[in-house]
Amino acid sequence: MGHSLIHNLQANIVAVATIFAIQALPAVAQQAATGDVPIERQKILKDPGVFGVFTIFKLRHEWNNVPSAKRKDAAVEVKKLIEKHRDIVLVDLYLTRGLEANSDFFLRVNAYDLVKAQIFMREFRSTTIGKNADVFEALAGVTKPLNYITKDKSPELNAALGSTAYTGDAPRYAIVIPVKKNAEWWNLPAEQRLKEMEAHTAPTLPYLVNVKRKLYHSTGLDDTDFITYFETNDLVAFNNLLISLASVPENKYHVRWGNPTTLGAILSPENVIKALSE
Ligand code: HEM
Repeated sequence: MGHSLIHNLQANIVAVATIFAIQALPAVAQQAATGDVPIERQKILKDPGVFGVFTIFKLRHEWNNVPSAKRKDAAVEVKKLIEKHRDIVLVDLYLTRGLEANSDFFLRVNAYDLVKAQIFMREFRSTTIGKNADVFEALAGVTKPLNYITKDKSPELNAALGSTAYTGDAPRYAIVIPVKKNAEWWNLPAEQRLKEMEAHTAPTLPYLVNVKRKLYHSTGLDDTDFITYFETNDLVAFNNLLISLASVPENKYHVRWGNPTTLGAILSPENVIKALSE
């Protein structure tokens, strides 16, 4: 009896201490603890350990039978959904209709926790447009610190990477290219892979001024090794960049380079859905 009294007393002390600990947190930290702070775009797009989920959609014919007022409301519905989840995911939409055969639009969802991206995508699939679209391709990956072109392993290229900024006009296009390498690549000695990646990096440096890039690692998370994502306003430069990379020896190890390569216009989510509602 005495023992259980002491036990209860201890439990109460712990509970009260926990309440005080939460109340003592500054307002911002409290918000962070409850997940009330919107995700910071610049930060999540730079951080390692961020999951990227790319989902490419093709609208069904039934979409045309949705009453036009409801199709128009679809843009507001998606906007509201993105706002609802702005504390846990960063969502971007891209318009591919008119450029691609197998898709009309795609989403990129960035999240610190993959489950949060999954929750968002599940809810998206329940919206009017989500219910009227089929997934053509879905890819998941995670961002990581540099493997090869680091300060220690490749100081000159690392410095060049850090010292050249994007100076082009605001990008109007995004391109997603999945890349997979063969077993021979993964069995090369580390020094050899470093050399190959230096040969990859050298010809790409002139394009830093007009192409923005982002790399997600997918090995084991998906049937590809990498999801490469680019933004540019200069598609001719981008075409030349790909031609340069086609002729570096690293390309001999690729078993997937695209398939699909997806080119879309960068628009606000609302404008993507509006364009598809016309
Ligand atoms: C401005 C243009 C580009 C620059 C500056 C660039 C630079 C780099 C650098 C520095 C790395 C090494 C990252 C590390 O150290 O871990 C890398 C990796 C990679 N890049 Fe590029 N790149 C560019 C364009 C492209 C393009 C167009 C593709 C192909 C579609 C591509 C595909 C890849 C892939 C798949 C990796 C990972 C390779 C691996 O870890 O085995 N890159 N890039």
